Amino acid sequence: MNISLDGKVVAIAGATGGLGPTVAQVFARAGAALSLVDRDAAKLDALVASLGAPPERHHRATVDLLDPEQTRAWAGQIQQRYGRVDVVLHLVGGYRGGQKIAEFPGEDWALLKQLLIETTWNVMRAFVEPLKASRGRFILVSSPQSQKPAHVNAAYAACKAASETLTLALADEFKGSGATANIILVNAILTPQMRAEKPDADYSKFTSAEDIAGAMLYLCSDAAANMNGQRLSLFGAR
Ligand SMILES: NC(=O)c1ccc[n+]([C@@H]2O[C@H](COP(=O)([O-])OP(=O)(O)OC[C@H]3O[C@@H](n4cnc5c(N)ncnc54)[C@H](OP(=O)(O)O)[C@@H]3O)[C@@H](O)[C@H]2O)c1
Repeated sequence: MNISLDGKVVAIAGATGGLGPTVAQVFARAGAALSLVDRDAAKLDALVASLGAPPERHHRATVDLLDPEQTRAWAGQIQQRYGRVDVVLHLVGGYRGGQKIAEFPGEDWALLKQLLIETTWNVMRAFVEPLKASRGRFILVSSPQSQKPAHVNAAYAACKAASETLTLALADEFKGSGATANIILVNAILTPQMRAEKPDADYSKFTSAEDIAGAMLYLCSDAAANMNGQRLSLFGAR
């Protein structure tokens, strides 16, 4: 499917992480203007340089998405520059786990709640009205652990489940507006960097960053206009 996002404005939260650069490239190639946010200015500069897009087609900002004021200010900057926001891709992540429940460190529980729940809450509150106005799209990437948790992933799974619940509630608020909010589920993400660093590793249970970006493009297309509050699973074939 050839999907054009010419004239659309796409905000990417957590743009320089594992998944972000591939998604930014795919959306830039589809013709969208991008607003890229992360914490590290140097990584954002490198990402923008790698896109090779004309300056009017990208905006970057270092924003702490744990700070509601900074997050709202980011949404305001995009409105000021482009007058609209059509897509918000929430890519902030982080993982801690591998211990039994009683052994899981308190500071990791606090960290996961911040990374996975609070950033989602702040981003969706900042963008809910602009997305309603543009009949836009909100997309979260989550894990099947949220519905079928292993005990060693209790904290991660609970925080991912909470971020999914927020996304489903957003989808409920979007009903009738033409905007949608959906969730993409993957076990693990295979990035170009991982492929380059360990080409012989077994990635059979992973989902490639390119496939995730393709599913996101689909969710942004007219063909997905009626898809709201759904989970799209990109795993299970192997
Ligand atoms: N990776 C996987 O295998 C996997 C599996 C299932 C679901 N997911 C989900 O898929 C999405 C993308 O995953 P990913 O691996 O690309 O995520 P990631 O690399 O862990 O995080 C993406 C980016 O978010 C940034 N970030 C963290 N806290 C922030 C804050 N307060 N303000 C601004 N930026 C912040 C990170 O910066 P720092 O580097 O400075 O922390 C990082 O650059 C996430 O939602 C993740 O939960 C991932």
